[in-house]
Amino acid sequence: MKTESERMFETAGRTLPGAGLGGYSLPESVRLIFSHGKGSRMWDVDGNEYIDFVGGAGALILGHCHPAVVDAANEQTTRGGHMFGSLNDRAVELADRLARDIPCAEKIAYATTGSEATAYAMRLARAFTGRDRILKFEGAYHGNHDYAIVSTFPRETGHYPQGVADSGGQPDATVSTMLVCPYNDLETLKRIVAEHVREIAGIIVEPVQRIIPARPGFLHGVQEICRANDIVFILDEVVTGFRLSYGGGQEWFGVSPDLAAYGKVIGAGGPLSCVAGRAEIIDLGDPHRKGQERYTYLNGTLHGNPVAAAATMAMLDELSRPGVHVRMNDYTRELGAACQKILDRYDIPAIVQSTGSLWQILFMDRTPLDMTDILNSDQAAMRRLDMELMRNGQYVLPGVRRFISTVHTDSDLEDTVRGLDDACRAFNRTG
Ligand SMILES: Cc1ncc(COP(=O)(O)O)c(C=O)c1O
Repeated sequence: MKTESERMFETAGRTLPGAGLGGYSLPESVRLIFSHGKGSRMWDVDGNEYIDFVGGAGALILGHCHPAVVDAANEQTTRGGHMFGSLNDRAVELADRLARDIPCAEKIAYATTGSEATAYAMRLARAFTGRDRILKFEGAYHGNHDYAIVSTFPRETGHYPQGVADSGGQPDATVSTMLVCPYNDLETLKRIVAEHVREIAGIIVEPVQRIIPARPGFLHGVQEICRANDIVFILDEVVTGFRLSYGGGQEWFGVSPDLAAYGKVIGAGGPLSCVAGRAEIIDLGDPHRKGQERYTYLNGTLHGNPVAAAATMAMLDELSRPGVHVRMNDYTRELGAACQKILDRYDIPAIVQSTGSLWQILFMDRTPLDMTDILNSDQAAMRRLDMELMRNGQYVLPGVRRFISTVHTDSDLEDTVRGLDDACRAFNRTG
């Protein structure tokens, strides 16, 4: 008899491309359909339980169904779930809070997803400088729009500063607007900027690029280069904002971008994101300026959605409690050390790489510096071990960085280590 997952997969196969939701596809043999989550755990439609390390792609920093978030969202849903055009009280309260709590924020402009936030940041940078090109780093992910998916998933590296299209349907003109540089490489960055200085509107960078941490001095170097050349320094805090610390990557690395893009955590699982930064740049989106030269269009049906805003405020109350980030980050280190011991015991040539509450098992012998290091690592082995982990009750996306939430527990840690032990044994047996 078919399992419920197999039955639902057949429906999904008829209706969704690759029976999936977008960028990730698990091997054909895996039929995984989730039905619900609570805290740090998720269950599939057949009743199997998993420790969740995907965390809604990092959005669920308080885990699933945190009571404070659920109550705030429910309460707002009954008061009015969606309002457009004019302000709503929740959106104003949250904007005030974000403008106070985000280090670089003099003002914020709402958006709906992280992709929208980075697209707005790039557009604002162009409008502010009167230049067209944006420089990004190879392997960085800034969302799904045409300017973002350039050299994000390269099969080989080294065509700097020319970017490579990651998707069908991307206009050449969009791809050639982007400039690409290896991450953590200030010398190449200086060279590219010197050659294109009159064209570059902004440089966009992740404080931790996927799982690669910015090396000491790198982000400061980017900041200096931007300041020296009147380039808008855009920090993509969609993953790191409110996660590495309450002040995000800005506080963690001590940098002050002109603009920062936020999403994921600040939506508390709902449709809310923002661009934050210098008032004179954000104010280009002031709708009273319509018709003026540098007016920048920033608009969407769900901007400032009151349910998401209410949920986000409840989430920020929890997240701003003393010690929350220290605990999350210590937990990640402890988990990483315990996992490293298991990998070493089985002679598996991999490291546990972590920054803050981001972590991943990589098949290499040192912290990666850039996309070339990632491509040179044994990615097939990494995916094979991750698949074994999934068979042992851990929800991870093979080859993708994982997230710790505030509600991962000591027993999650013990179960994870035990699951890794079993996974390593199977990995060595089948290798
Ligand atoms: C650093 C970064 N920027 C932007 C995005 C895009 O966010 P969204 O998927 O909400 O559009 C992501 C998503 O993973 C991200 O990791």
